Amino acid sequence: MPKIILIQGSLNPDSNTAQLIAATKRELDKRGVANEIIDLRDLEMQFCDSRPLREYNENTQAVHKKLADAQGFIFGMPVYCYSVSGPLKNFIDIHSSAMEKKWAGILGQAGGKASYMSLGDLARILAFESHVTTVQPHVYTTYADYDDGELTSEKTKAKIQEMLDNLVACLHAAKEENA
Ligand SMILES: Cc1cc2nc3c(=O)[nH]c(=O)nc-3n(C[C@H](O)[C@H](O)[C@H](O)COP(=O)(O)O)c2cc1C
Repeated sequence: MPKIILIQGSLNPDSNTAQLIAATKRELDKRGVANEIIDLRDLEMQFCDSRPLREYNENTQAVHKKLADAQGFIFGMPVYCYSVSGPLKNFIDIHSSAMEKKWAGILGQAGGKASYMSLGDLARILAFESHVTTVQPHVYTTYADYDDGELTSEKTKAKIQEMLDNLVACLHAAKEENA
């Protein structure tokens, strides 16, 4: 059974991205898909300065190993200035080699509806930096999709299911191809 790592990319203590990731994790659990959340708020993340992995702190090296051992990823991306937030981009810069040629889904959270295309920046970065292929649909939410910090939008929940269907199918197909 493939393992999926969910990467929660917001450092905000009251993050909506974290709620979106939590809702997606619940669906993976229901499907019996092995998964684990890596929440950027819990990491001792250093800045990427192109040093070798062994020179980063132990926490960074442990995270790298978890990513290398996983087959798929789901990124929770807070939209900053129509693009990927700085901390999440830094995370990808450090760990890109652990994600090489794997599969990913994208969840994005923004303040308003107009920034939907920002999620394409993350897909492009993953493709160019790690040859990661992202599945459709990309799931996009705004403040209106949450109530009291809980994801309430039924449309978003349906999109999460569709994204998971496609991601899990790709992971199974990749497993069979490599068997
Ligand atoms: C520096 C910064 C830039 C932002 N840029 C955008 C933007 O371009 N478009 C948008 O819709 N929201 C933008 N926002 C709003 C965030 O996307 C929104 O607050 C979102 O909820 C962040 O995710 P989080 O709740 O998980 O932290 C920005 C917020 C910050 C702090």
